[in-house]
Amino acid sequence: MRQWHIPTFRLKMYFCKPILVCKRMDSKTLISQLEETQILSKQEFADLIARHTEDDAQFLFERARVVRERYFGKSVYLRGLIEISNYCANDCYYCGIRRSNDTADRYRLTEEDILACCEEGYQLGFRTFVMQGGEDAHFTDEVLVHLIRNIKSRFPDCAITLSLGERAKERYQKLFDAGADRYLLRHETANAQHYAQLHPAWMSHARRIQCLWDLKEIGYQVGTGFMVGTPFQTPELLAEDMLFIKELQPQMVGIGPFVPHHATPFANETGGTVEQTLFMLGLLRLMMPQLLLPSTTALGTIDKTGREKGLMAGANVVMPNLSPVSVRKKYDLYDNKICTGDESAQCVNCLGVRIASTGYRIEESRGDAPGWDNRQ
Ligand code: 5AD
Ligand code: FES
Repeated sequence: MRQWHIPTFRLKMYFCKPILVCKRMDSKTLISQLEETQILSKQEFADLIARHTEDDAQFLFERARVVRERYFGKSVYLRGLIEISNYCANDCYYCGIRRSNDTADRYRLTEEDILACCEEGYQLGFRTFVMQGGEDAHFTDEVLVHLIRNIKSRFPDCAITLSLGERAKERYQKLFDAGADRYLLRHETANAQHYAQLHPAWMSHARRIQCLWDLKEIGYQVGTGFMVGTPFQTPELLAEDMLFIKELQPQMVGIGPFVPHHATPFANETGGTVEQTLFMLGLLRLMMPQLLLPSTTALGTIDKTGREKGLMAGANVVMPNLSPVSVRKKYDLYDNKICTGDESAQCVNCLGVRIASTGYRIEESRGDAPGWDNRQ
């Protein structure tokens, strides 16, 4: 009969295994570690994102509020969003204003329209105007430089933010020289393969990331960001987003749930959830305590009190819509977008009430990033 000989070290290894498993840090320990060191490894972020419980999330939000109040008190910064054009040369699979959507009802605002929005916004207390639009060739450098100079001369105490997509560095420079202060360009995903699943092959992840570095080098206050719950996204990919943001060191990060749009290739995909989005907001607050973090319209779209929940999870910025009511429905990046009807003409009043319900309050200032030495 064959004699089985089991070496003792094997036994030891066998019995060690459960001990190793127990050594995985629990979620609350990881959250405390993130607060303390402001970073985690990719694996730790991914574990936390994949495995946290509702109780862990509440713990994260409590810590995020403490950290947020340390730097910003109870203040919430306001940005007036002016959606200047829904013409777009890009064809992102998730976006309702992608160029292949020929059911989109296209519009663009004139300089006069935009100045009227700023005028109204100024009276309402806005001191930042965000001009956002698709990649529309109509808005040449000359058109934008004229517009920026005009806004700056009429409202010298206001900041101008642009969110107009990718451009060559020298073109970003011209807009900066004309007076633009900030630029928002979401990276969408830090992973090139995932980017290729969300965009047609001719759209380049490398070019997008390069744009962000260019904007930083020029001296803009930079905002980036991503959607939570896009098709093919995994906890590991979200962990990569966290690490990319840490490396880029932007002043602002805009995140919101992916919400399917009926006339896009992703019409039948599942959208992101409130829970996932709030958890990512909390993580961002702990990783970068001084970050400007908007509680987004997309969050308010999938949950009636989503924006209030965002503020309670660590966000500190809101971006009420200042676009003319007549065009708001046309800027439909995703289905059921809120603030597009006549009743929402003055979102700032609505948001003021909503924010008050959270114990925070709107601050009427430019709301620059802490420590930012602006050019004025
Ligand atoms: N759901 C949620 N957000 C979207 N965006 C575009 N399409 C959608 C969608 N279907 C976001 C992108 C873009 C920003 C202007 O809007 O992240 O960068
Ligand atoms: Fe726009 Fe409430 S914030 S209607």
